[in-house]
Formats: sequence, C-alpha cells, structure tokens
Amino acid sequence: MALRNIREIGDRVLEKTCRPVAEVTPKIVDLVNDMVETMYEANGVGLAAPQVGILKRIVVIDVDPVEANPIIMINPEILEVSEETQTGDEGCLSVPGKAGQVTRPMKVKARAQDINMETYEIEGEGLLARAICHELDHLDGILYVTKVEGELHGMEAPEDVEIED
Ligand code: NI
Repeated sequence: MALRNIREIGDRVLEKTCRPVAEVTPKIVDLVNDMVETMYEANGVGLAAPQVGILKRIVVIDVDPVEANPIIMINPEILEVSEETQTGDEGCLSVPGKAGQVTRPMKVKARAQDINMETYEIEGEGLLARAICHELDHLDGILYVTKVEGELHGMEAPEDVEIED
C-alpha cells in the first residue's frame, strides 16, 4: 500500500465525470487500498478516486472516529433520499483548511459494489448520509464548494468543528 497525492481545487481532474468500473483488477485493489490509507493519513472521513487523480467511480468512506471500518463503494448510486435535511459545515481534503455550510438529506439509501463486485445496499444517516452525498458528487465532478450557503470559512480546530446540527 502507498499514500497517493491528493489533488486540490483548481486541478481539472476534480471537475471530470468518472467512468464506471467494469471489473476489479489487481490494480483496482491497489487503488482502493491506497485510497483507504490516504484517507486515514489525511484524517478524512471519505475520499473519491478523482481526488487521487483516477477517473473511476470508486469512493471510500469511514465516519467511525474510533474503529477503522472503511466502506468501499464501487459504482455507487443513490436510491433514496429523505425529505428531512441537515445543514452543517462540510469540508473536503481537496479544499484544505476550509469549510462551509451545505444542506444534505438527513438519510440516504445507496447501492454499490464491494471489492468483490458484490452488489449491496447501505443506509446512512447524519454524517454518513452527508459523506455518501459528498463523495458521490466527486464522481460527477462536483465539489461541495459549489453548494455552500454563504461563505467558505477557515477550518476551526477539529474539536470545535460541528459536523452535524
Ligand atoms: Ni471531498
């Protein structure tokens, strides 16, 4: 496994639409492992393949602050979103040191394939719902900064950041 370089806002690779994954090759396995390692190293709760310069529909997410339990989503799609929303600060490893208010669904249901290309469904609420929406947006070249209500602001010390309402 190896750390990958995280692309930052302004890099056009972050604005592209990613291609579906047809099969999990050893190269894809390496990529997924590297993405997980890179996410943890950067203290992120999610990372999408375009953030490491790869235009494939793959994201990794881990919102558990205690135990490493990465969720791997290949070819993910959102099936349902709740009418109920959440508005709160969001950040992105590709926009270092910044945060901004974004409204997202409170709950989402998504379908994806795992590392064995087995299809599964996942339901997320709160931070997990937010992370799924944020990471899936990356696969369509969308950065959260285009959805910020008000101004982007500097990231506060992590212990002061309010992740959810
Ligand atoms: Ni991001």
